[in-house]
Amino acid sequence: LAGCGGNEASSTEAAKGDSDAGYQKLSIKLSHVASDNTPKGLAALKFKELVESESGGNIEVKVYPSGQLYGDNDEIEAVQANNVQIIIPSAAKLSGFEETFEIFDLPFMFKNEEHLRAFEDGEGGQELLATLDEYGMKGLSFWPNGFKHITNNKVAVDDPSDVKGLKVRTHGGQIINEVYETMGASSTKIAFNETYQALQLGTIDGQENSIVNIETQKYGEVQNHLTLTSHARSEYAVVTNKQWWDGLEPKTQELLTKAMKEATNEGRNQVEKLETEAIEKIKSEGKMAIVELTDEQKEAFKQAIQPVFDKWAQKMNQDIINKAIEAGN
Ligand code: LMR
Repeated sequence: LAGCGGNEASSTEAAKGDSDAGYQKLSIKLSHVASDNTPKGLAALKFKELVESESGGNIEVKVYPSGQLYGDNDEIEAVQANNVQIIIPSAAKLSGFEETFEIFDLPFMFKNEEHLRAFEDGEGGQELLATLDEYGMKGLSFWPNGFKHITNNKVAVDDPSDVKGLKVRTHGGQIINEVYETMGASSTKIAFNETYQALQLGTIDGQENSIVNIETQKYGEVQNHLTLTSHARSEYAVVTNKQWWDGLEPKTQELLTKAMKEATNEGRNQVEKLETEAIEKIKSEGKMAIVELTDEQKEAFKQAIQPVFDKWAQKMNQDIINKAIEAGN
């Protein structure tokens, strides 16, 4: 009986019109570690909505936010094994494959959202994504998170010397760790979904992240100070399993590519609005004292960590670095 019902339902679907006819039946798992109410979370939900409606329900996208399915420590292996089809890690988490994914952590490299978009949509960004091909993955897009800022529970940071001696959580990577070393702090890589607890237990004194992550992760409950440094960028790469992707019907690939483009736009359209809302919320809660740096104070941070930029900008893929710099002109 159930079988009969199913057949009836699918013939009704097919009769509904051209827009939803002919898509292969497919279930896609999409896993990420941030909250739903972030640029990444909302872009992922937009992708789900578009794919499901455009395919007439033939393609299902199951979104698992907040590390519910995989966390930082296992999501990349999971996508390589095709246990999950889409992950969206911070680009720096892919630097084990290609060092240049840490380009977003080069201090003060990207000026604003426009600069990032020009780089990501241009040849440099696409060249960077293509480096994943040989590792069984395919980079579909870059999504925004935000410029990164520093929180801690020891000191009001308004000068690089204040960072000295702090133990700071980062998302990992050689560049960002050297940024902290250069300022006399120690940095340690901790999975995103374990960071709140590490701050609460005092294993670390502070962390750096986008304003939206700082607010949605409720770091204000366990941190006293927030300094708006914008010293580096957290930007995501949307990554899929290459073999799985290559095996999809061309029509399905086309639909997913179009939906990914629109989801990317959704993230980009949301980022500044969510940042404004998050900073307002942090201010009104009053749990963290906020330091907004003057131009002079910001310059002191730039000076202090410039050696890290100089060293790593020379070590990465020069073609991509040059294109990233050109994208800002
Ligand atoms: C982090 O680990 O700090 C970020 O990559 C988390 C996120 O937003 O994915």
